[in-house]
Amino acid sequence: MVRIGILTGGGDCPGLNAVIRAVVKAAARRGWETLGFEGGFEGMLDPLSYRSLTANDLDGLLFRGGTILGTSNRGRFAAKTGHSEVRRVPDEILSEAKQNFETLGLRCLIVVGGDGSLTIAQQMYEYGVPVVGVPKTIDNDLQATLQTFGFDTAVACAVDALDRLHTTAASHNRVFVLETMGRYAGWIALYAGIAGGADVILIPELPFNYESIVAKIHQREAEGKHFTLVITAEGALQQGGTYTTLAPASSDREAHLGGIAARVAAEIEQRTAKETRSVVLGHLQRGGMPTPVDRQLCTRFGVSAVELVAEGKYGHMVALHPPEIKPVPILDAIGKLRTVPPDGEMVRTARALGICFGNEITM
Ligand code: F6P
Repeated sequence: MVRIGILTGGGDCPGLNAVIRAVVKAAARRGWETLGFEGGFEGMLDPLSYRSLTANDLDGLLFRGGTILGTSNRGRFAAKTGHSEVRRVPDEILSEAKQNFETLGLRCLIVVGGDGSLTIAQQMYEYGVPVVGVPKTIDNDLQATLQTFGFDTAVACAVDALDRLHTTAASHNRVFVLETMGRYAGWIALYAGIAGGADVILIPELPFNYESIVAKIHQREAEGKHFTLVITAEGALQQGGTYTTLAPASSDREAHLGGIAARVAAEIEQRTAKETRSVVLGHLQRGGMPTPVDRQLCTRFGVSAVELVAEGKYGHMVALHPPEIKPVPILDAIGKLRTVPPDGEMVRTARALGICFGNEITM
């Protein structure tokens, strides 16, 4: 009987369970067994941690957040420790994982992960383990796919937060600064800022200055709008400045970005004398039910991943190339983050509405 393995790696993300469900179902219809490794890549090391996944494990998985297999974004497999800093997973770790993969009689390992986990998957592939990737991350920062799953749900969460802040900001004539995740890419803040009617959007790709933000607030005041909504990506930074972090990178994990909203709020309050509050959306963006867009994407990704295994197309990742899901080499997806083009259509659309990116004086 054919056996395949699956694991979820890196930070959790809405839709992981929907991918697991699709993989197990599509594999079962071919008569294959699926083994799920627990706790990310660590589950492949001794003492092995895995379980056989059957139809009984699948009830309700389409809409359940998190991952039933558990995950980890630190540990012995850490391959990324900072912005584009790749490190090689030690040979003894790769060797132990390969040995266990072979002992279990697996045909292929499906790795559901973002930049960090797919970097590990590529190293395992080069070490001789047949792998297939599925692109996951709320950050939407992977090359070679138009969208990763989890992103749409994170944006929906941020838009919901902006809608709620809008009414309270307007009632109290306050400025609110909402901080989203996204690491070194501004996709979540940009999409949510446009969909949620933010007045100012701060993203890492367009470093800001306070004069521009303050001018926008004053302009709104002059128009009789006594409240302002600012959305900032956690990776946003001042012109000539650096990222705001809560903890630096260590040998087994990336730097912990965060705190920019509080910083920006304090500066705005000091410069405008307007009451300014900050809200950090944090892991609310990663929890809970995936949106319908993410559920269908996860399902298509999961089914396509099983098809790649059947074709023996290893070292590849399923990717969204509308209207199709297509295989792309994992190598094409990793290494360089997909960031917001500073003069792309989304940014131009926002600017056309008068949305300020903190690096210009808008009228
Ligand atoms: O990559 C996903 C992500 O949620 C980032 O947006 C964020 O910077 C990071 O993970 C947070 O990681 P942790 O859950 O370890 O704090």
